[in-house]
Amino acid sequence: MEAVGDARPRIELAGADDLLTCWAIRRQVFVEGQGVPEAIDRDGLDGACTHFLAHWNQRPVGTARLRPLPGEAKAERVAVVEAVRGLGVGRLLMEALETHAARTGFPRLVLHAQESAIDFYTRLGYEAEGERFLEADILHLAMAKRLHPRRGR
Ligand SMILES: CC(C)(COP(=O)(O)OP(=O)(O)OC[C@H]1O[C@@H](n2cnc3c(N)ncnc32)[C@H](O)[C@@H]1OP(=O)(O)O)[C@@H](O)C(=O)NCCC(=O)NCCS
Repeated sequence: MEAVGDARPRIELAGADDLLTCWAIRRQVFVEGQGVPEAIDRDGLDGACTHFLAHWNQRPVGTARLRPLPGEAKAERVAVVEAVRGLGVGRLLMEALETHAARTGFPRLVLHAQESAIDFYTRLGYEAEGERFLEADILHLAMAKRLHPRRGR
């Protein structure tokens, strides 16, 4: 019998066993899709991060990581596979990062938005901080959002 598709993507905290899946999505999106050198994507900081994985219809379709910094958390490696872009996976990933960051006591979430993704983050309530700069040969803009304290875990 054919499986019925999930109505929405599921976002989960990635365990150690899931890191290879996160890397595979990042390779597809950043290395193959944008020409970012793999050594830049795999920067040695993954061990210090909390990773998130989006699944939809039993397929991994997106990932992101949250890196703790002094007094704030940073969203990094936000990636959705091309086939399902524009369908809400990126928004759900960012909401999961925000919820986790707020629950673990961070008052704000910061990120470096690729120029092509600035409007995506603006729609989610992020505000620009400073001027555009080059990172991995791609124009970026620092952005930030204040988080509301949340109870739980
Ligand atoms: C940027 C990215 C993560 C967005 O993920 P997504 O799943 O396509 O985004 P969503 O469908 O959740 O979009 C949420 C909203 O932002 C809008 N949006 C998404 N990407 C956008 C973009 N690049 N520019 C402008 N608006 C965008 C959507 O239309 C949607 O609008 P709505 O509020 O009217 O519904 C995805 O396009 C991606 O992986 N891009 C390649 C890697 C990348 O650039 N990552 C960001 C690095 S900083």
